[in-house]
Formats: sequence, structure tokens, C-alpha cells
Amino acid sequence: MVCIRQATVDDLLAMQSCNLMCLPENYQMKYYFYHILSWPQLLYVAEDYNKKIVGYVLAKMEEESTECHGHITSLAVLRTHRKLGLATKLMNAAQQAMQEVFGAEYVSLHVRKSNRAAFHLYTETLGYRINDIEAKYYADSEDAYDMRKMLKTKSEKAGAEGKSEASKRVPVEKAGERTSKDKEENSRKPKTNNDEGVPTELLEKDDGKKSVDISVKQTSTGGGAG
Ligand SMILES: CC(C)(COP(=O)(O)OP(=O)(O)OC[C@H]1O[C@@H](n2cnc3c(N)ncnc32)[C@H](O)[C@@H]1OP(=O)(O)O)[C@@H](O)C(=O)NCCC(=O)NCCS
Repeated sequence: MVCIRQATVDDLLAMQSCNLMCLPENYQMKYYFYHILSWPQLLYVAEDYNKKIVGYVLAKMEEESTECHGHITSLAVLRTHRKLGLATKLMNAAQQAMQEVFGAEYVSLHVRKSNRAAFHLYTETLGYRINDIEAKYYADSEDAYDMRKMLKTKSEKAGAEGKSEASKRVPVEKAGERTSKDKEENSRKPKTNNDEGVPTELLEKDDGKKSVDISVKQTSTGGGAG
């Protein structure tokens, strides 16, 4: 089983080692410390049953910008553990914390033009869009895609949740009744295949790649140190 959890200072060496194995962009230990001391809520690791760190996401908030937004500094998963959905889960955990803890409006990142796996993950799975192309961004002169994904603001999220709560309420005098209008509306509802009646398109995709159990540990995103 692989577990996704918030990183602690004790994980930094393993994160750095995973970074060295997976990417040519490497950082001094003080850069990892800078991240965890400044934004402890934005560092996550994937840990296997042997307590080995097999993936990480290192993220931060951009402070100079007028808009409040998060930035993914680095993401990697060891070769042995790829295509299991771990990067997707690490990214979702960091994005959620950016939004909930820091009120980020969007999240940005850079990716090499030639990095097809990461580009697929960002565009197809996570919904990032190309914002710009930065020529010769990397040390070896390769161009980078500057990518962005909009995040829901707190008020948008609350609005959406309020709406869905309201839509769950059934007027008392209608409960149990099935009028011809209800029947007509039911015939227009999205197809579901679960007891809760959740539309199929809202369910997590199960594409059969989960040969390993993955759990996401809920940590307090309320600002406490990691
Ligand atoms: C990019 C990387 C983080 C993806 O990690 P991962 O855990 O394998 O990703 P996931 O399992 O969450 O896959 C997410 C999606 O990307 C796709 N993907 C992953 N590897 C892929 C590949 N080699 N080619 C094409 N698509 C790929 C998956 O199919 C999946 O798509 P789906 O949701 O449609 O099934 C990993 O390959 C890696 O660490 N690469 C080296 C470091 C790196 O490039 N980091 C990013 C720097 S910007």
C-alpha cells in the first residue's frame, strides 16, 4: 500500500534523493527547508509499506505577484511506482491546500516541452492550460511551457456546495410523490451506476491501474506546522 501524506522535515533527504533520481533540476537542501518552513501545508510525499518515499510534490506560494497563486516547484515519482495515479494524488493534495489554506486563485508550473508524460498528466488528467512558452528556460536551453490551472475561490466553493445542498432538499409535500413531471425529469437525469445516485461522470475514474492500494491521509490544513 502507498500512502499520500503531508511531508515532515524528516522526509526532506528522501525527497531530495527522489528528485536526484528523477529530474535534472536539482536543489540544495536549504531550498527544501525554505519550502517546508514557509509553506508546510504544500509538501506531500508518497510513502510505501516499507516507509520508503517513492514520490513527492514540492510547492509554494508566489509572494511577489499581485494575484495570490500557488506554484509547483517540483514533482517526481520513482520509476518503480509510476502510472499508479500517485502524481495525480500528490498534485491534487497540494492544489487543495493552496486553495483552502492560502486562498490561491490559480496554480502555475513549468514543464519541459519534451516531457510528454508530465505534459499529459498536467493537461489531460489535471486540467492545466498553456499560459506561455518560455524560451530557453532550462539550463540546457530547452523551452518550457508555462502552465496554469484556475482554482475555485472559497466563495465559489461555498456557493457550489450551497447549491448542491439546496438541490438535495425535497419539499415535504412532495416527498414520496411521483408526478408525471418527476418522471419526465428522471428520464433526463445523468445515468448512474451507484447506490447514492452520483452521476457516473463525477466518480473517480477506475481504469484498472490500481494494482497498489493508495490512501490519502487527511491532515489538518488549518495552518499548523507539518
Ligand atoms: C510525470 C510523472 C510525475 C508522472 O507520475 P505518475 O505517478 O506516473 O503519474 P500518474 O500515474 O498520476 O499518471 C497521470 C496521467 O499521466 C499519464 N502518464 C503517466 N506517465 C505517462 C507516460 N510515460 N506517457 C504518457 N502518459 C503518461 C497517465 O497515463 C495518467 O493519465 P490518465 O489519468 O489518463 O490515466 C512521472 O513520470 C515522473 O516522475 N517523471 C519524472 C519527473 C518529472 O518529469 N516530473 C515532472 C516535472 S515538470
